[in-house]
Amino acid sequence: MAAKRRAGIGMLGYGNIGREVFAYYRDPRTNARVVRIARRRYNRPAPAAVKKLLVRRAQQVIDDPATEIVVELTGNAEQGAAYMLASLERGKHVVTANKEALATRWREIMAAANRSGASIGFGATAGGGMPVVRAMQRHASTDEVESFAGILNGTCNFILTKMKQYVVRHMDDPQIQRRSLPLEDALSQAQKLGYAEPDPTNDINGFDTKYKLAILSNLAFGAALDPAAIYCEGIWDDDRRILASDFYFLHHPRYLDGKYELRLVGVAERRGGRPALRVHPALIAASGPLADLAGVTENYNGSVINGRRLGTQFIKGLGAGPKPTTISIASDVREIAAGVLRGDGGPPAPPTTRGPAPADVRKVRTKGYIRSVSPDIKGIYAKKLEILARHKVNVQSVVNVKEFLYGRDRFMPDYIEIDPAPDGAVRDVLKAFGRLRGVRDAMYFRVLEL
Ligand SMILES: NC(=O)c1ccc[n+]([C@@H]2O[C@H](COP(=O)([O-])OP(=O)(O)OC[C@H]3O[C@@H](n4cnc5c(N)ncnc54)[C@H](OP(=O)(O)O)[C@@H]3O)[C@@H](O)[C@H]2O)c1
Repeated sequence: MAAKRRAGIGMLGYGNIGREVFAYYRDPRTNARVVRIARRRYNRPAPAAVKKLLVRRAQQVIDDPATEIVVELTGNAEQGAAYMLASLERGKHVVTANKEALATRWREIMAAANRSGASIGFGATAGGGMPVVRAMQRHASTDEVESFAGILNGTCNFILTKMKQYVVRHMDDPQIQRRSLPLEDALSQAQKLGYAEPDPTNDINGFDTKYKLAILSNLAFGAALDPAAIYCEGIWDDDRRILASDFYFLHHPRYLDGKYELRLVGVAERRGGRPALRVHPALIAASGPLADLAGVTENYNGSVINGRRLGTQFIKGLGAGPKPTTISIASDVREIAAGVLRGDGGPPAPPTTRGPAPADVRKVRTKGYIRSVSPDIKGIYAKKLEILARHKVNVQSVVNVKEFLYGRDRFMPDYIEIDPAPDGAVRDVLKAFGRLRGVRDAMYFRVLEL
């Protein structure tokens, strides 16, 4: 009996993910097989089975008549987008894991797919092994997505989990400050375990989350949002970062006693028919409607989607790593390959509507805690309170975390609890704090509510 035909995959990239994808398709039971591979450094050592399929240029893979589905795994935003466009224009289906390319060139890529009728699978661009892209596609086609929030970066979640664990383990140690884990050290641990890229900038500054949020929001709201316009704070930006004292304040029984978990989130909500999007570290209540999200630890991803009729859905899964990412790629390939083999192509690409313009996030009201670190200078708190009053931000309480003193000037973190206030006003307060002599690391921890 003749072997069943399998659809032809042309691979662009043979790195961490590419190697795992190639290994996956060595299984003859799959409905696709790899027919061509391009990588940047053509002459690098590779197994004979790979060498046999290697070509020098991506275009050769795209042009090869045996390539029916292009699997784009280069990780290069500009070139990756160009390869996707070239493939779709030639009528070749595309499966990609390249979130930056897809988020920044969404309209062009979807327009090319719609013109040629080719499919585009991008489940691996957000959530990796957590099927949030699929869930969002389903909800958007049958229900109205009101809001969603996601922990979409496993590296940051791992770092925050480790920093908390150190503080909780040594909570009553008088040397707590020395026993805690600074962000830099937590990041090195993540790198050693292979959870963080050698250059982790896009993870820790929130950009990776921002691209994923843009892609999910485009699906949820039928939009084509510009990621550059999304308000974004990471866990470590130029002039502020998460500190060990934050976890002490959040978890010590003397202070907030574990009421909230600190996570980096991407949040989207419909406000007057328009999507309001933001990325920032947030406090998620450990009990209550978002408790499942608060419980997402280590390098896991999680997301909560609120649909008008569906109510609340929670999904959790491994967001990165070669194996979970390959499963996501393979499920897109499987669906498209089934269509190719039936002769009717794969599922249609999302429409290319411009969609509603984004809402002004400065108007979104949140409550939370403003943290800043100040030297032991008389009158410094009065100045901070004056700034808050000037911006009409109401204060509930002020707490000094005396267990964390830094340097000879006895810098100390304080946490100011505020009533719900517009985001813009709080951001103006942070800027004004930054201008006070000696005050640094001003950061706002918004309580997440959906
Ligand atoms: N790693 C993860 O856990 C993860 C999770 C989800 C999504 N992703 C996404 O998956 C994609 C691949 O990630 P990765 O970790 O596999 O990256 P990687 O290890 O850096 O591999 C990239 C591969 O692409 C090749 N390449 C780069 N530019 C090329 C070009 N212009 N033409 C042909 N080949 C080119 C490289 O060639 P050489 O081998 O010759 O250098 C390499 O084989 C990225 O978009 C990433 O964001 C990764």
